Amino acid sequence: MFPLVLLFLCSLSLVASIPTWMYAPGQSQIGSLVPGAAYIEALGVGYQPERASAMQRHLASEEQGHLGNVTVIFSRRKRSADLFYINRQQLWQFANETAIFPVNLVNTTTVIPDTGEVPLRLVTGNKDKNLISSGTWRWRGTMLLYDLGPLTNGGVYYDCPQPTGGSTVITFLKPVPTPDGCNLVTLHAWSQLSD
Ligand SMILES: *[C@@H]1O[C@H](CO)[C@@H](O)[C@H](O)[C@H]1NC(C)=O
Ligand SMILES: *[C@@H]1O[C@H](CO)[C@@H](O)[C@H](O)[C@H]1NC(C)=O
Ligand SMILES: *[C@@H]1O[C@H](CO)[C@@H](O)[C@H](O)[C@H]1NC(C)=O
Repeated sequence: MFPLVLLFLCSLSLVASIPTWMYAPGQSQIGSLVPGAAYIEALGVGYQPERASAMQRHLASEEQGHLGNVTVIFSRRKRSADLFYINRQQLWQFANETAIFPVNLVNTTTVIPDTGEVPLRLVTGNKDKNLISSGTWRWRGTMLLYDLGPLTNGGVYYDCPQPTGGSTVITFLKPVPTPDGCNLVTLHAWSQLSD
């Protein structure tokens, strides 16, 4: 992890640019930002083992550098995973050398029958009309948790394949049975240094 951070810093200084905190005016401390940045690994018992044992699943934006759904990718396939960071209870994602996106939950407003509950979907950006704005993110040990008032997701997420390919990541604020076709995952950063 550490060499990657250095690499990241080097590429920053090479292009002589500093990421802007999209939607977060007044916060631009790159120095306090980079040290806690980490890849987030998705661990799930339901995942089929891959042939290449070194392959890991990581949290990433569906389309790198663009706002939209958050997904789980094989970090060694196609492209690298994204870096994330928690600052003031907000989860952020490095989009590219010049942009950092907030990660939020969107209320899908549709009950999944098996669960009796409405799933909340992870997205980058904060423009969705069903965005939940008052939730907070935190690490418990290596594990990523989301809280909304007295409610918490307990660090439990589901990686759900989409009919159109790829997958979305959803969560609930109470324990539910695993939705059909989805994999229960927990999300871990092994190297974050703060928050
Ligand atoms: C970084 O991402 C932002 C938002 O998607 C985009 O406007 C900008 O052009 C990107 N910059 C680079 C260097 O790719
Ligand atoms: C995100 O996922 C939802 C649910 O599958 C889908 O309806 C929506 O179109 C996706 N958004 C984008 C920007 O791909
Ligand atoms: C999500 O939307 C449903 C249906 O509109 C609503 O009942 C539920 O309270 C919302 N959940 C959250 C966490 O806002």
